[in-house]
Amino acid sequence: MKTIQIDHKNGKYSVQFQELDQALADLPSDLRIVTDENVAQLYEAKLGNFQVLSISPGEQSKSMDGLGKILSWLAQSRATRKTTLCAFGGGVVGDLAGFAAAVYMRGIPLIQIPTSLLSQVDSSVGGKVGIDLPEGKNLAGAFYPPVHVSICSDSLATLPARQFINGMAEVWKYGFIMDTGLLDILSQEKLSSAHPVLSSIVERCIRLKAEVVQADEFETLGLRAILNFGHTVGHTIEFATGYGPVLHGEAISIGMVVESRIGERIGLSPNGTADQVIHCLLSQGLPVTHECLRDVDKLVQAMYADKKSEKGEIAMSLLSDIGSCRLMKGVEESVIRSALQAS
Ligand code: GLY
Repeated sequence: MKTIQIDHKNGKYSVQFQELDQALADLPSDLRIVTDENVAQLYEAKLGNFQVLSISPGEQSKSMDGLGKILSWLAQSRATRKTTLCAFGGGVVGDLAGFAAAVYMRGIPLIQIPTSLLSQVDSSVGGKVGIDLPEGKNLAGAFYPPVHVSICSDSLATLPARQFINGMAEVWKYGFIMDTGLLDILSQEKLSSAHPVLSSIVERCIRLKAEVVQADEFETLGLRAILNFGHTVGHTIEFATGYGPVLHGEAISIGMVVESRIGERIGLSPNGTADQVIHCLLSQGLPVTHECLRDVDKLVQAMYADKKSEKGEIAMSLLSDIGSCRLMKGVEESVIRSALQAS
């Protein structure tokens, strides 16, 4: 079995590339699984012998209420400190169940089996878990490394087209921030969930993410923040639209366009960068604008709540060129407003 080892402050964990049946067979016996109703239906036969809690699909479950439901279920089903919690599903399930594992009895073992493209290439790796608050996205959470992550490429075969394209936003992001070779491949190949190149692309993205999170696990050095390209604006789009109608990847796709325009406006990235980003995202069928961008005041206010912002100043990770990115502090509100208006 191919694995990637990821070091963290208290040890290491492996990302294992394996078949889904094998990943399920390898799970420990003292186990609870959290998934969502769509995934539960899809894998009904495979999950039949496990103790499973299915949450409502969608970002709205990543809430205090959703967290409370999982914690109560763990307590009612007599989970102990030795019980392993497996997050089986997309990014919402991984973040929410991961946070439940981090706080239940002050922490129980966590296994991530991400079943969506987005959760395989991004959210299941790196140890970030958390929930949204009414005040903003991902505002409560923890760094909580899993025991291991199982990447099962066979689970991608059942992904609906919208979910696949949603995940591709994060794949393009890796190209924009640090891997022009990846952009070359993505520009040549029209990827789909059945494409033979897909599993090597997933592995490439995980290796890129592993490199970044090992260099700056707790996002204190400004390195890990580059993974947030498109996310400052993207998170406010999710917030402004009520967490649901615009999927995370769709929101960060639009966010990458706006943030590319900001990069150009402050003279960090060459003119034409935003046009290149737009061209790539449109070729993937990703959105590059949304009507909520008209509500500039609401979006800008929400940006001050972003975790990267400090001392009343907005910070964002912006492209210095296609293929490189850096965290910029104190981005002028007037520049952000003009980029939103142009989008
Ligand atoms: N998804 C961004 C990070 O893990 O830092």
